[in-house]
Amino acid sequence: MKETVVSGIRPTGKLHLGNYFGAIASFIRMQNDYNCFFFIADIHSLTTHPVPKDLHSSVKQVLAEYIALGLDPNKCTLFVQSDVPQVTELYTYMNMNAYKGELERSVTFKEKVKSQPDNVNAGLLTYPVLMAADILIHRAQKVPVGKDQKQHLEMTRQFGNRFNRMYNVDYFPEPEAFSYNEELVKVPGLTGGGKMSKSNSEADAIFIADSQETNQKKIMRAKTDSGPIEKNQNKPQEIQNLFDLMKLVCSKKIIDQYENDYNNCEIKYGELKKALAIDMEIFLKPHREKISEILQNYKLIAEVAEIGAEKAKASANKTISEVREIIGFRKFY
Ligand code: ADP
Ligand code: TRP
Repeated sequence: MKETVVSGIRPTGKLHLGNYFGAIASFIRMQNDYNCFFFIADIHSLTTHPVPKDLHSSVKQVLAEYIALGLDPNKCTLFVQSDVPQVTELYTYMNMNAYKGELERSVTFKEKVKSQPDNVNAGLLTYPVLMAADILIHRAQKVPVGKDQKQHLEMTRQFGNRFNRMYNVDYFPEPEAFSYNEELVKVPGLTGGGKMSKSNSEADAIFIADSQETNQKKIMRAKTDSGPIEKNQNKPQEIQNLFDLMKLVCSKKIIDQYENDYNNCEIKYGELKKALAIDMEIFLKPHREKISEILQNYKLIAEVAEIGAEKAKASANKTISEVREIIGFRKFY
């Protein structure tokens, strides 16, 4: 039997290159070999209190992008999280065995406490529990995500194992974080910091649906230094980031050429950026065109969401009724 795969992305606007190479590229490959459930985590996104109009358009955007980038509703189950309320039922049950101390130790929670001290809501604290419910509701074995989600996956295993121990069952499998490219991916941003993220400044991320002009400008403005002064010296972070981005879209020949120039202290960053922008556009153009085509097709988007919801609900219902039985919510005879 095929192994089950679950993954989701919060709808907060357009998808960027980090989302693509960290998650979606794996989704696309996995749909051929696994029993896949890919969803839009719209309940998770409520922690930031989006206005309804924006929430709806973000869900539509991400669903269109999923389809345009190559997720095939005939091969995998594509759905919107809030269409499958069983997940929130499982979340309620899992919350009873998730402890304040461990939730407070989550790195993403600690970051949010720092970055948005006025909105430290219970949904943020229990975010890993809802994520665990997303995964456990389909009893998944594999979860394609970027490197930043590793700790959440460990927590999912913890909650699943705890449930198994508590009720003395072998019910939930241990899901593992997974990347089709062997190692978990981290795509760097353009502003010299860590991973590309939509929560960083607007200049940090390359959004797949954005115009050539916008993305080219961002690349040309990416942070660099004044250049190497010694042969073969180590690259500072922001320069390494540009090389890492090149690895995603440029040929080996071009990368080798700029590596050589760097090592010989002959590099011209302007030229490197131009080469990166050209190959980035070659990669992005067909995706961008497909996204705008699908976004026009409201009927297709609605149909995909409806079929996906039915398939996801069938799988979730099975788990929920078995969990209810295990917990002791039973019918009277
Ligand atoms: P963001 O950081 O922009 O808010 P999300 O947290 O919504 O992105 O990420 C959605 C998915 O994309 C997750 O699986 C995450 O691991 C992956 N992802 C996001 N940014 C990157 C990145 N820079 N490198 C690799 N994977 C990433
Ligand atoms: N936490 C993930 C993120 O921020 C999104 C997510 C929610 C998810 N539920 C999930 C990812 C279940 C994989 C599986 O990117």
